[in-house]
Amino acid sequence: MANIETATTPSAFLAQHPIKMLIGGQWVEAASGKTFDTINPSTGQVLAKVAQAEAEDIDRAVAAGRRAFESGQWPKLTPSQRGRLLWKVADLIEQHAEELAELETLDNGKPIKYSRLVDVPLTADHFRYFAGWATKLEGETIPVSVPNMFTYTLREPMGVVGQIIPWNFPLQMASWKLAPALACGNTVVLKPAEQTPLTALRLGELICEAGFPDGVVNILPGFGETAGAALAAHPGVDKIAFTGSTEVGKKIVHASADNLKKVTLELGGKSPNIIFPDADLKFAVRGAMNAIFFNQGQVCTAGSRLFAHKSVYDSVLSGMTDLARKMNLGPGIDPTTELGPLVSQEQLDRVMNYIAIGKREGATPTTGGERAEGDLAQGYFVKPTIFDRVADDMTIAREEIFGPVVVVMPFEEVEEVAARANQSIYGLAAAVWTNDVKKVHKMVAALKAGVVWVNTYNQFDAAAPFGGYKQSGYGREMGHAVLDAYTQTKTAWINLR
Ligand code: NAI
Ligand code: MG
Repeated sequence: MANIETATTPSAFLAQHPIKMLIGGQWVEAASGKTFDTINPSTGQVLAKVAQAEAEDIDRAVAAGRRAFESGQWPKLTPSQRGRLLWKVADLIEQHAEELAELETLDNGKPIKYSRLVDVPLTADHFRYFAGWATKLEGETIPVSVPNMFTYTLREPMGVVGQIIPWNFPLQMASWKLAPALACGNTVVLKPAEQTPLTALRLGELICEAGFPDGVVNILPGFGETAGAALAAHPGVDKIAFTGSTEVGKKIVHASADNLKKVTLELGGKSPNIIFPDADLKFAVRGAMNAIFFNQGQVCTAGSRLFAHKSVYDSVLSGMTDLARKMNLGPGIDPTTELGPLVSQEQLDRVMNYIAIGKREGATPTTGGERAEGDLAQGYFVKPTIFDRVADDMTIAREEIFGPVVVVMPFEEVEEVAARANQSIYGLAAAVWTNDVKKVHKMVAALKAGVVWVNTYNQFDAAAPFGGYKQSGYGREMGHAVLDAYTQTKTAWINLR
């Protein structure tokens, strides 16, 4: 916490009418003059009016990105200079840590203690990690068998990259997209989610302050069907990186077809979390709580399908039910809050609809299954919900709910649970709780998922690749794996004869 600066507050940023978008180094209103409201989900009240980008603004931003990519300072910077700019962004994030944490919590609803301990520090860390990569984008010399040829490869940036991000981790998602793209020398048009545009725009101010040339980073808040769709289809965009629903991910792929832009996708999940009887049960139960209730369950890797061995099923269910009943629900900005509101009225309706479907299909909540009342009825709060008596083929056991709702199911055998865990269109994450080394390796090999956690959950690090199998996506983010997504390989043949 030593780096946390407390002097700046979000009030100056929020006082702007409207909060503008960043195009070509200028903070501007939408060409149409339209704005939209961003809401505080803890209260349902309007936080700020934000300029609303549409196709015309996207056009201007893509043109600015193209100019900055082809001419001016950016293509002339040395890798070391690019790295320093990214490092400077990390420093500025730390200097404004408390302001960013408050802004994130106000706009998204997440508990402030997590914005402070997780979202903001990991965002800074992401920029710092990729600052280091700017100087390490090496090609190779290739020992071809054609006489007298000297053959080598270069790793070059893609060009203008469109990036579309969701509302569950607004700052972190911005950093996962921006940092590697910039380290590799691309220029960017970033569209934050309409539910949570604020921290990406504040980050844009810090990026300008760090000294990036105009047009390298453009940030355009707006709706998916207008701004997002225009960016995804734009003929001047060379690559799209998207995080969000599998449904929209498929639309992005269709929209990319006309100019064959490159696409990477981080999509949904229905991640299995498996507790074997030899696990440290108390630890596993706490882990299963974190797996589903962190960020109100609005996490692509949420451990939303919990399999507990039949010999420990009752104790897992009762242990989790007791802990869930004690969780402190409240406004995100209250430092004692453990579970905040969902991000929007729409997300609240979606989650409550799944809860109703679950009950109708015959599953029973041991706790929760309803909205919070009293003072919290103003916001989008849902009580932590644990479903018992669930069958694999029920809707709530198959579809991504993206809320504080877990289904718990018993199993008997290793092979059986591995097969059931893999019975999903998704393959983002999975976890196993056991102290048996043979089961660990068997399950790591058997689970069809981009990440497998053992005796832990929701671990992320800028150095560790992350992405999905099956309909959870294309490509990997983080680590050196993501460099493939933001560079293209050029092969040079030099005739030495
Ligand atoms: P979404 O996929 O509609 O939104 C994500 C981003 O895509 C936002 O920036 C949005 O403006 C943009 N977008 C929407 N339609 C678009 C289009 N036609 N073209 C281009 N961009 C478009 O997700 P939404 O509606 O907010 O949430 C629905 C469900 O999606 C959630 O309940 C959850 O299951 C899943 N989801 C998964 C996320 C993840 O991290 N994998 C994040 C957010 C949502
Ligand atoms: Mg909001």
